[in-house]
Amino acid sequence: MTIKAVRGVHDILPSEAVKWQHVETVARQAFEVYGYEEIRLPIFERTEVFARGIGETTDIVQKEMYTFEDRSGESLTLRPEATASLLRAYIEHGLFVNPKPVRLYTIGPMFRHERPQAGRYRQFHQLNLEAIGEVHPALDAEVIGVLMELFRSLGLADRLTLAINSIGDAACRPAYREKLVVYLRRYAAELCEECRERTERNPLRVLDCKNPRCRPVLDGAPSARDSLCADCAQHFLDVQDYLKAMRISFEINPRLVRGLDYYVRTTFELTTTELGAQNAVAGGGRYDGLIELLGGPRDPAIGFAVGIERVVQLLPESYGDAWEHRRPFAVLIPIGDEALKRLLPIAQALRVATPKPVPVELGYGGRKLRNELDRANKLGVAWAVIVGERELAGGQAVLRDMKSGSQQQVSLRVLVQKLIALSSEVGHD
Ligand code: HAM
Repeated sequence: MTIKAVRGVHDILPSEAVKWQHVETVARQAFEVYGYEEIRLPIFERTEVFARGIGETTDIVQKEMYTFEDRSGESLTLRPEATASLLRAYIEHGLFVNPKPVRLYTIGPMFRHERPQAGRYRQFHQLNLEAIGEVHPALDAEVIGVLMELFRSLGLADRLTLAINSIGDAACRPAYREKLVVYLRRYAAELCEECRERTERNPLRVLDCKNPRCRPVLDGAPSARDSLCADCAQHFLDVQDYLKAMRISFEINPRLVRGLDYYVRTTFELTTTELGAQNAVAGGGRYDGLIELLGGPRDPAIGFAVGIERVVQLLPESYGDAWEHRRPFAVLIPIGDEALKRLLPIAQALRVATPKPVPVELGYGGRKLRNELDRANKLGVAWAVIVGERELAGGQAVLRDMKSGSQQQVSLRVLVQKLIALSSEVGHD
């Protein structure tokens, strides 16, 4: 029996990987021009990093973590998100001594034991960006600005909707929560079981229930916005003003509460109508109390994460064509070991050619010429270079145009220059 990948976990095959590389390259560039630096983090942590960080009452911590005991009996967890992990590193390495805000990003896999469906995986990947140590609403706008800039660079901005909200802070949220619980309990009979259960456990989350049966009650629920304290209300207005000044369009969604407990004030999400139920391409918000909760200084912060699978799904199919251009430009076919030895340094010289390397494949000298040409054909390369005993003796190579089948002799001494010239003619990259 063949062994298959675990449910909800996917391989990214070469034709797809090109799109991933593109997204990651564009993201790095978009983040770095704003001064964000990369931090690389482990994919597992002590369980308490997430239990404390994300919140004991969240779905993630209660139902979705891949938690296991290692051989020394320590409870470890595959990271379900990067923020708590990044803050653990921020505190551990004293990154808070740097000028604030500290701007960081990280890219990599996350793990959540959710029910797999289109667009929802158990191993998925995020671009994660965090700005730490500043409470000013202009930083909220900057972070949202970076997110929008990323999607503009990817040519996807027009297909996405930015929604923002403010869910208050430690000063005003408890009273709102109370108000909401009273309301939800009053209408409990009209809510689905999950909402009833969440009313007691994590009432804000009830607001983003997708069950149509719950909608009428939820539409009438008290809104966080009406319960904001003066400081939070002002902060939210300022964020909106800065976004307008940056010409970023947004809608206010009073139900945008997010699934992690650490958020305060600004929350935001980027959604599309093109991906079905899993419509969130990115989400984020402010988390001013989290660093202190994890044992660090009282640094306020804000950030977001982008789901790379969902972005890749939005990219046009033609991105896969970029793969074509990565194929080797030529295949070098030695017949016999002497010819292989002669071609080894030539292949190397082509691969390190400046300013532009020429990607080539080199055979092993053992296979039949017909098979090698067959293979070159399947690879779709432009040229094959054949060096047999006769050619070797004459210091020559046969250069075969794989499209037309026409052949010419080229001196081995100028073969590198010749292939470099041919590859620059077609702008191979
Ligand atoms: P999140 O909303 O849980 O936030 O995830 C962010 C994005 O990751 C989602 O919008 C979605 O695109 C993608 N995503 C989440 N779960 C899955 C899944 N099972 N399969 C595929 N894609 C998924 C966070 O993770 C926060 N740490 C974001 C943040 C950073 N807030 C502040 N800083």
